[in-house]
Amino acid sequence: MPALSPHTVIRPEPGGALLFQQETAETALLDLEGLDALYFLLKGELRDYPPFFIAYLRQHRFVAEGSVDGSLERVAAVRDAAPTMTAPPRALAAPETIHFSVTGRCDQACAGCFYSARPGSAVRPSDAPFELFQRVVRQAAKARVFQMALGGGEPLLHPRLLEMVRLARRSGIVPNLTTNGNLLTVEMAVALREAGLGQVQISLNGASEGTNRATRPNFAQALAAMEGCRAAGLRFGINFLLTRTGLPDLEQVFRLGEFLGAATVNLLRPKPPTTDGDWLERESPTAADYRRVRRILRRLQPRWRAGGSEQPATRITIDASLTFLLTDRSPQSLYRAGVWGCSAARKFVTVTQEGEILPCSHVRWSDMGGGDVMRAWWESTVLARFRALEEEMRGLCRACRYLDLCRGCPAVVMAFGGAFGDSDPHCPTTAAKK
Ligand SMILES: C[S@@+](CC[C@H](N)C(=O)[O-])C[C@H]1O[C@@H](n2cnc3c(N)ncnc32)[C@H](O)[C@@H]1O
Repeated sequence: MPALSPHTVIRPEPGGALLFQQETAETALLDLEGLDALYFLLKGELRDYPPFFIAYLRQHRFVAEGSVDGSLERVAAVRDAAPTMTAPPRALAAPETIHFSVTGRCDQACAGCFYSARPGSAVRPSDAPFELFQRVVRQAAKARVFQMALGGGEPLLHPRLLEMVRLARRSGIVPNLTTNGNLLTVEMAVALREAGLGQVQISLNGASEGTNRATRPNFAQALAAMEGCRAAGLRFGINFLLTRTGLPDLEQVFRLGEFLGAATVNLLRPKPPTTDGDWLERESPTAADYRRVRRILRRLQPRWRAGGSEQPATRITIDASLTFLLTDRSPQSLYRAGVWGCSAARKFVTVTQEGEILPCSHVRWSDMGGGDVMRAWWESTVLARFRALEEEMRGLCRACRYLDLCRGCPAVVMAFGGAFGDSDPHCPTTAAKK
């Protein structure tokens, strides 16, 4: 008899439910019909639901064979609660992920960095007070936030990081971490695993010392950190910043990730740095570069990219601002696969080490602080403006059939001199129509 996987959590949303697979960090948003289908599947009474939906739940390990105590009751409770749930327009009832900046300090200077405190940057070299973290976790646990992404700055510099990881996990939230790897020894990897860390992302921008050095000075340490994670049994992924310099290494970085046992290779789009003058203009891939990336991705994971069922050992994931790389699939297929596009203030928010609430880590607009995430979720006019982005959008994006699933990246648009709501200048789909 099928049951929810022991690693699946579920929470009610207006008109349905959100599922989260804690091992793969995948989410699925079900409408009421989908929630009904899940309920009757677990009850063993499934009738005429589309087979692809059931296959999807199994393939993505939301559902597994074998009874898990209370699984049907959990789904039944969510089914009862869903009709009365509320959420801000075009947002979830609560963030799915909270990005929490643990510190503004960093032990290295990377070209183009969008966050760390450096001379000329507005970010202060302060650590987040533990009490701020506790306040955020308390609210997050109550609102059933699924994940916290700990970053900064270099989070491993925070003296109470392990306590933060433990507290999040004890509160039912999966803590993840992004690091440069310098302090990630095998001992630290074991300690993080034992504290309950879900996955660590290690930043690596090239397959060779030379390419990586264009943005990051610590190639050997990053590789050693990955080896350390493997030895410690801590799940890890690679964060690969897709710069023009790094792009030729994309395939090799992916192969390196496969070889080292990375769970994911996550592609990041360059956003405005806090310093480094013309870095973004020099390093941002153009629409033609992105078309090349799309071809590379198709070659690397053809079946997976086409929406297929086979889960590769090392998955390629993309940051939400790169949704335009997926437009070789139909809008319907992307919608079914749970693609949201720019998810700032809809699926996630950022809390800085000073407690300010931002729609995303790349747009430092804030009208609420004190780490008061859930009040901001409901009351912030900045977050509300982000959720109405498609209403403000102009130009090629406005006419695009992927508008509701993509929305480009306002941080990049504004860094290139556009206004919030202008079309994305680097889209490989709309630029082709010019
Ligand atoms: C700011 S770093 C902080 C965490 C940690 N110190 C590290 O180096 O990974 C978080 C992630 O942002 C990426 N990043 C840095 N500058 C960026 C930029 N201008 N645009 C997009 N991502 C950037 C890094 O490669 C890293 O994976």
